[in-house]
Amino acid sequence: MAPPDTSEPLLQALRLSKHFGGQPAVREVSFSLQPGCMAGLIGPNGAGKTTLFNCLTGAMKPSSGQVILAGRDITGASADVVFHAGLARTFQIPRPFAAMSVLENVMLAPPGQLGERFWANWLRPGAVRAQEARTLEAARHWIDFVGLSALEQQPARVLSGGQRKLLELARVMVAAPRLVLLDEPGAGVNPALLEQIVARIATLNRQGVSFLIIEHNMDLVASLCQPVMVMAEGEMLLSGDAAEVLRHERVVEAYLGGPA
Ligand SMILES: Nc1ncnc2c1ncn2[C@@H]1O[C@H](COP(=O)(O)OP(=O)(O)O)[C@@H](O)[C@H]1O
Ligand SMILES: [Mg+2]
Repeated sequence: MAPPDTSEPLLQALRLSKHFGGQPAVREVSFSLQPGCMAGLIGPNGAGKTTLFNCLTGAMKPSSGQVILAGRDITGASADVVFHAGLARTFQIPRPFAAMSVLENVMLAPPGQLGERFWANWLRPGAVRAQEARTLEAARHWIDFVGLSALEQQPARVLSGGQRKLLELARVMVAAPRLVLLDEPGAGVNPALLEQIVARIATLNRQGVSFLIIEHNMDLVASLCQPVMVMAEGEMLLSGDAAEVLRHERVVEAYLGGPA
């Protein structure tokens, strides 16, 4: 097998902007991520990080600029199309279907399953059953991977905030994404569970899954992320090695709201 081509970026944002009623939330942001990356995205509240994620993943259409995933222009594509192209994301505040079980929530993941298409149930019941069996197997695998097997049949409402983050991770992994964008995986998670989440993410990264992580926990960013990108007031301030970025004066200013 030919070695993977690492020269082509996995994800590129080209002068991406998003305005809300004339107010810029993301301004001409450009960056690129290499396959296998474990990149971090930091910046104060309101910097535009979540809006950037929304524009990258089809949750919102950017006002201008381009998003290129593995050489393919996905600018303005729907969230469903982007997800199937291999770019998944988790939410800052996960909202699982509270009354559905953990397993059912994870099995919901891949949209466009055969079983959802009315005619397929009549014309190709065997194919539908085979696909459901594969989805069930994948769902169980990922629930086990994130350590939630004991809660598989419980309604999602019983999960803690941290467990909901793990559920989200399992949910997106069922679709075998190439790149996963995580919006504050550490927020509201107790330290023991956070350690587990970080370990799971690191394992997936070693297995070849690429990540871009929004996070406020600087210890987590410093230990896990490379490179680290910094946004403030909608703009990409700088990007680089975690240790360098975190002691950069513009980063300190962005967080403290002015020169120290
Ligand atoms: N759906 C929206 N409608 C209007 N303004 C929004 C919307 N989403 C975000 N914003 C605004 O965009 C700016 C960036 O927000 P956000 O992307 O959530 O920042 P961050 O994730 O870095 O905290 C903020 O000023 C926020 O109020
Ligand atoms: Mg946010």
